[in-house]
Amino acid sequence: MNISGNTILITGAGTGMGLAAAKAFASLGNRVLMVARNEKRLAEEAAHLPGALHFACDIADPAQVERLVQWAQSNAPELNVLFLNAGVTHTYRLFDGSPARDHAKAEMEVNFVSAVDLTHRFVPLLNGRTAPAIIVTTSGVVYAPDNTNPTYSATKAALHSYIQSMRFTLKKNGSPISLFELVAPLVDSPFSAGVVSDQKASPDEVIREMIDGLAEDRMDIRPVTSETLFDAWRRDPEEAQKMVNDATGA
Ligand SMILES: NC(=O)c1ccc[n+]([C@@H]2O[C@H](COP(=O)([O-])OP(=O)(O)OC[C@H]3O[C@@H](n4cnc5c(N)ncnc54)[C@H](OP(=O)(O)O)[C@@H]3O)[C@@H](O)[C@H]2O)c1
Repeated sequence: MNISGNTILITGAGTGMGLAAAKAFASLGNRVLMVARNEKRLAEEAAHLPGALHFACDIADPAQVERLVQWAQSNAPELNVLFLNAGVTHTYRLFDGSPARDHAKAEMEVNFVSAVDLTHRFVPLLNGRTAPAIIVTTSGVVYAPDNTNPTYSATKAALHSYIQSMRFTLKKNGSPISLFELVAPLVDSPFSAGVVSDQKASPDEVIREMIDGLAEDRMDIRPVTSETLFDAWRRDPEEAQKMVNDATGA
């Protein structure tokens, strides 16, 4: 993928890896469209980035997503890259009295169903654009669940599966869209505030490695510890399970 000259819509762009990506992509000569729910934070961050636009949207709400698509078409008809990065988690343990059903439902809506919604709306548009690409943030938990974030882990496994299906069908349909998966490691961001660990990578480091992977057309990008986890999982899934859960103290 050419890492400059794109117009890139980034969900979850107000904090963490999404914000690090917005800054990095903008500095490489891309135009960024920053999306999240907290408009004030988006506006403050977008003001520092040349040409950046922002749009407040809850991606779990189909009516708001519809407005986002219309906004993107009116304000950035050249949009050619979608970075589906927003995500939520609930840190708890199974059978500890937590409202697991509520947690699972909320996580599934944001982490998985929104990706289905957004790709169904944007793929037909991206098919006609120059050098189109979609990047989706999953997690090392697609190989082995983190048992301090059990239902979250299941939503990312669903997302990982959906990426494989999309790749198959995009290719079969002759789509020009390149579909990248960013398998993120444990990262120091508001998202992981509930996880006590000395193994958190910085968002900047992960995004630097992601951009290297995009430039090399590596479709599965596994920054920092994610590649080691992947190797462990291929050797012995139990070893991978231990690595993930040792890192989060599960
Ligand atoms: N941190 C980790 O250890 C880790 C590890 C592996 C994978 N990941 C994944 O990496 C991605 C980015 O997370 P991060 O670590 O950078 O955490 P983060 O800083 O908390 O970023 C998550 C972003 O998602 C946005 N968001 C949440 N719900 C949303 C909704 N309903 N609609 C629109 N935006 C929403 C949040 O902004 P608003 O609150 O303003 O909406 C926030 O900007 C997530 O998909 C996460 O699952 C994280």
